[in-house]
Amino acid sequence: MTSQTPKPKLVLPLKTRAALSVLSALTDFTRRSNGTVNRGFLKILDFKSPSKAKSVNGVSTKDVTVDKYRKLWIRVYTPTPSSADGVLPVVIFFHGGGFTFLSADSFAYDAVCRQFCHRTPAVVVSVNYRLTPEHRFPCQYDDGEDVLKFLAENPSVLPENADLKKCFLAGDSAGANLAHHVAVRVAKSGLRGVRLVGLISIQPWFGGEERTDSELKYKDAPLVSISRTDWLWKAFLPEGSDRDHWAVNVSGANSEDLSGLDYPSALVIVGGFDPLQDWQRRYCEWLKKSGKKVQLIEYPTMFHAFYIFPELPESSRLVSQVKDFITTESLI
Ligand SMILES: *[C@@H]1O[C@H](CO)[C@@H](O)[C@H](O)[C@H]1NC(C)=O
Ligand SMILES: *[C@@H]1O[C@H](CO)[C@@H](O)[C@H](O)[C@H]1NC(C)=O
Repeated sequence: MTSQTPKPKLVLPLKTRAALSVLSALTDFTRRSNGTVNRGFLKILDFKSPSKAKSVNGVSTKDVTVDKYRKLWIRVYTPTPSSADGVLPVVIFFHGGGFTFLSADSFAYDAVCRQFCHRTPAVVVSVNYRLTPEHRFPCQYDDGEDVLKFLAENPSVLPENADLKKCFLAGDSAGANLAHHVAVRVAKSGLRGVRLVGLISIQPWFGGEERTDSELKYKDAPLVSISRTDWLWKAFLPEGSDRDHWAVNVSGANSEDLSGLDYPSALVIVGGFDPLQDWQRRYCEWLKKSGKKVQLIEYPTMFHAFYIFPELPESSRLVSQVKDFITTESLI
């Protein structure tokens, strides 16, 4: 006889539940079976926040073009007054959305970056990288790396007290996948004037051909159900590749050897209701095995992307933990 443990239930405020259902439905309605995305429809519901030069809640923002031909731009968040606090770390942030959805000026991500900027304090640079399926792998990684090169060559786009020798890469979901691969590229090639001291990996989006226990257990989870992630990986990967590609199955047999690389110290956030948690734990194990410093923080009652919902106390807690990590790693 097999004894079955009942599946724990995700308990959320009504507001959060409603928002999650709407977001999940939106990603379903706009993804077409022929592999394209209905951008026109998506635009109506992806609320944007403009940049604000005037300080709002202790943060001012400006948008800077990196490459007009590929429409690559960044939003720079500066804590105000910026001169009062001595040198500030720089956090390069990559938003989530399966490489397909959202942008640096999406309402939720603008709000999150303001929090990181104000509460750390740090200069935050949010990257508006190109999206799939219009621009597939490795465009996103190229854009991420090119933004770092751009900052190294044009430090004057940042406030004077921004210190690129205290640089952090950060991202959630697909953005954390992106942050990882940019960290590997920079560790390999080096970048004059920039030193990566930390990687903030919030519920990174990794995967593989195998279906893990957590994927099967939470296969109908909001946002990152198996059917959604399968579609998104297909839209991202080169034709003919499967999910055991090194960009996806980062800790698998096709992965990079990190052991000799100067990979930054990592903070990894995992949620107990996230189907991706098994892949995320494997990622941590792999970093450790490769001799890297990793701190894993678990949120047993949280789901994928919880921290973009400011009504949850866990969202605020995460911002504090990121602050602590940045403070500690900046001192080393
Ligand atoms: C995919 O479907 C949409 C809507 O039916 C259509 O407008 C578009 O041209 C199709 N694209 C391709 C590449 O088949
Ligand atoms: C993908 O990942 C799983 C788990 O880490 C591993 O067992 C499998 O061999 C991987 N596949 C490849 C091609 O690396």
